[in-house]
Amino acid sequence: MNSVTVINHPLVQHKLTIMRDKHTSTAGFRQLLREIATLLCYEVTRDLELTTTTIETPLAEMKAPTLAGKKLVFASVLRAGNGLLEGMLDLVPAARVAHIGLYRDPKTLTAVEYYFKAPDDLDERLTVVVDPMLATANSAIAAIDRLKERGAKDIRFVCLLAAPEGISRFHGTHPDVPVFTASIDKQLNDKGYIIPGLGDAGDRMYGTK
Ligand code: URA
Repeated sequence: MNSVTVINHPLVQHKLTIMRDKHTSTAGFRQLLREIATLLCYEVTRDLELTTTTIETPLAEMKAPTLAGKKLVFASVLRAGNGLLEGMLDLVPAARVAHIGLYRDPKTLTAVEYYFKAPDDLDERLTVVVDPMLATANSAIAAIDRLKERGAKDIRFVCLLAAPEGISRFHGTHPDVPVFTASIDKQLNDKGYIIPGLGDAGDRMYGTK
């Protein structure tokens, strides 16, 4: 309950610093997000269950470890979630993917849904929700509300940066969903941006404004 894991790995922290720098290019930002995602994926999947299978190496038969159970689902909160999704899929290419389209109403900062597509058997899978910025937590809460309505039970949330206010709101609604993040920043500003943060993750990934 209310679990938060900060991934302090030196490579994650180094790459995050370059991403925060406003002089980093769009291409550089996107590449780094993909690279960090693989490292976050490594941590969020650390305790996946293994079983054994019998294989033949060129020299001998052996029982070797293999992932047990059904494939993962990565659920990307559009559009910035797709940056993390790419790196996750680099590491777990057989995972299923859900897309949840939400945008932030700039006046109310609430999440408005415009798209939802997910595999049917969410109840049998581990669902890893990806969204780089846990700011107000409105989008993350809305995304997980929808996934739970569709049957998801075992859910983890991965972001790059989290605001303390976002974490407490998120766990106020979904205390059962562990959060994995590369950093907990200082605060939110009055426009709902994370300070010091890295700006708008979607704009920085896609070169929009
Ligand atoms: N979304 C972003 O992309 N950046 C923030 O700082 C907050 C929400």
